[in-house]
Amino acid sequence: MKDQGVLVTGGAGFIGSNLVDVLMENGYTVYVVDDLSTGKIENLRRWTGEDNFNFIKGDIRTPLDNTLTPSRLGGGPPIRTIFHLAAKVDVTSSFLDPRLDLEVNYIGTMNVLDYAVRNGVGKVLFTSSAAVYGDSEVLPVRESQPTDPLSPYGLHKLSSENLIRIYHGQYGLDHTVCRLFNVYGPRQDPSNQYSGVISRFMEKARRSEPVLIYGDGEQTRDFVFVNDVARILVMAANSGLNGTFNVACGIETSVNDISSVIETISGNELRRVHLPERKGEIRRSVADISMLREDLHFTEFTGIREGLRETYRWFERQH
Ligand SMILES: NC(=O)c1ccc[n+]([C@@H]2O[C@H](COP(=O)([O-])OP(=O)(O)OC[C@H]3O[C@@H](n4cnc5c(N)ncnc54)[C@H](O)[C@@H]3O)[C@@H](O)[C@H]2O)c1
Repeated sequence: MKDQGVLVTGGAGFIGSNLVDVLMENGYTVYVVDDLSTGKIENLRRWTGEDNFNFIKGDIRTPLDNTLTPSRLGGGPPIRTIFHLAAKVDVTSSFLDPRLDLEVNYIGTMNVLDYAVRNGVGKVLFTSSAAVYGDSEVLPVRESQPTDPLSPYGLHKLSSENLIRIYHGQYGLDHTVCRLFNVYGPRQDPSNQYSGVISRFMEKARRSEPVLIYGDGEQTRDFVFVNDVARILVMAANSGLNGTFNVACGIETSVNDISSVIETISGNELRRVHLPERKGEIRRSVADISMLREDLHFTEFTGIREGLRETYRWFERQH
C-alpha cells in the first residue's frame, strides 16, 4: 500500500485526523495539507516521523501546485486519490463572512480539482453535508430529493458537488460525494455545530453541572461515529463507484436521548435546564442510507451507546 499516495486536505481536523489514522493503519502513504485554522497538529502526533506520512502546512485557497511541490512531497509516491475535507465548517460564520466561506469551500474545491486533473489523480472524495438538503419535509431524506440549502455554507457545498460532476463529465475525474450528517467521536470540537451538543453535555456531566436544552429536547439528528465515517470514505475510495451518498446511520436520536445515555455512561445525574427553542433550528433530521448499504455494502455501524462510551473515555483522558 505504501506505493499508493493519498492526499487528505483538512487532515489535522476532527474527521480528517480520524481518516488519517485508518489510512496509516492500512499502510497507505499519506500526505496532509492543512492550514491549522481549526485543525491541530497534536491530532497527527502519532504519525510524525513515519516515512509514509507527510504533513504540509498550506491553504487550499491558493493553487495546490504551489503547495505540493516535488520537494515538499519528499520523493514519495504520486498522489492517486484525494480526500477533500478541508473546509470552513461553521454555518453561522458562513452568514457573517460569506466571501471567506466561498473562497475556502468553493474556490478551495476548484483548486483541489484543478490539481487532480493536472497531476493524473485518479479519484477525488468530497465531504459534502446534509446542509445541502435544507429543511426537508420528506424523511428519511434520500440522495435524489431536491436540494434547498439555507446557508452560504450549504450553498457552497452544493456548488462544489456540482463542480465535481462537471469535472467528471469534462475530464473523466472519478469522484464520490459523501453527504455527512452529524458526525461525533474523539477529537470533536465542542463548538462544532454538528455534534457540539455531545461534547457540551459530556463536559457538564463531568463537572456535575446542569445541561442546557433548547426547546423540549425532542429535536432529532442522525448521529454517525467518526471511525465509521473514516472507514466509509476509504471503502468509497476503493470502489469503482462515482456518485453521491448519504453518510449517516439512518437512525433518529433526540437530544433528550443523548442526555440520558451520557447520564448513564458518566454515572452522574444530569440536571436539565430547558431554554426557548432556537429560531430556525431544524426539528428532525434523518437520512435514507439504502445506497450506503446496497451500493457501498457498508453495514457495520457503531451503535450510539458504544460510540458515546468511546467518546466519553477520550473526553476524560483530555482532562
Ligand atoms: N463534523 C460533521 O458532523 C460534518 C458534517 C457534515 C460535513 N462535514 C464536513 O466534513 C469535513 C471535515 O469537518 P470537521 O468536522 O472535521 O471539521 P474541522 O474544522 O475539524 O476540519 C476542517 C479542517 O480543514 C482545515 N482548513 C480549514 N480551512 C482551510 C484552508 N483554507 N486550507 C487548508 N486547510 C483548511 C482546518 O484547519 C481543519 O483541520 C468538512 O468538509 C465539513 O464540511 C462535517
